[in-house]
Amino acid sequence: MVIADNLSNSSRIGVERIEELSGKKVTFYEYDICDKSLVDELFSKEKIDAVIHFAALKAVGESVEKPLEYYENNLISTLNLLDSMQKHGVMKFIFSSSATVYGNPQKLPVTEDMPLSWLNPYGATKVMIEQILTDFAYANKSFKAVALRYFNPAGAHKSGKIGEDPNGIPNNLFPFVAQFASGKRDKLMVFGDDYPTPDGTCIRDYIHVMDLAEGHVAALKAFDSDKNMNVYNLGTGKGSSVFDIIKAFSKACGRELEYEIGPRRPNNADAPASYADCSKAARELNWEAKRSLDEMCEDSWRWQTENPNGFE
Ligand code: WQD
Repeated sequence: MVIADNLSNSSRIGVERIEELSGKKVTFYEYDICDKSLVDELFSKEKIDAVIHFAALKAVGESVEKPLEYYENNLISTLNLLDSMQKHGVMKFIFSSSATVYGNPQKLPVTEDMPLSWLNPYGATKVMIEQILTDFAYANKSFKAVALRYFNPAGAHKSGKIGEDPNGIPNNLFPFVAQFASGKRDKLMVFGDDYPTPDGTCIRDYIHVMDLAEGHVAALKAFDSDKNMNVYNLGTGKGSSVFDIIKAFSKACGRELEYEIGPRRPNNADAPASYADCSKAARELNWEAKRSLDEMCEDSWRWQTENPNGFE
């Protein structure tokens, strides 16, 4: 397995832990895949069978403040990969897409055929990259692409050796709650309890990161289909509110987590509710999420307590 990562929001130690847990050697390149010459050098040096493209900037709020950085990083990295793949005859591509491509879904649960839109530049880059893949697949019949629309990844590897370790203050709810529960953050804010939902807080489809990983393995099956651009929702089909997460995490860490209600996040970045219909992945990939919200919280809590400073 070959990993290329500029380590802008990850750690080399994570790669070592992958080798430890998998028992497999990883060839690691500390490359920024926005550098076309480096990408091409990698494809010249290594025999690549398929590409799984995870690399992207992904903080919704940050994308509103720094749109050019998001468009440049997320789009150019993808174009560089596709260009080298074409040059070196690599024909299989799995793309880490996102439920943010649905914007504020008007119908729930969300199905893959629903209209795409975006609420922020981050979501816009995911829609644009799916379009790039669609057009590239249309022009290159032997090229096969699969876009996996992640809902809200959460949890950690059960060993406690690999988990979410975002730079700085976490943008996302799960890592923030975990760090708050461990005393690393002094206040847990609920960004708005006045949404049109049962308890007033936003509803999301949180999916265990290990279910997500298994979804990528299952996606390899999609390459056998006659369509050469396939899209699948990867979620659980269940919606959980912010209060549901706080309650479940309180149970996992063994104490009631105090919180404060604050204003909504700016720029209308938060859709009131989003959760997946994953029947297409079940039908075509024989995949469905198996792990519960409690497991997400337990595994996230284990990672947090055993790695209070992440991969440091
Ligand atoms: C969830 C809810 C917040 C923090 C994420 C990723 C994005 C994409 C989709 C993969 C919202 C509320 C949050 C906090 C809070 N993932 N919240 N207090 O916005 O759905 O987006 O999933 O592509 O990359 O960002 O998830 O975890 O940021 O927020 O009340 O301290 O929790 O307002 O309602 P979101 P999130």
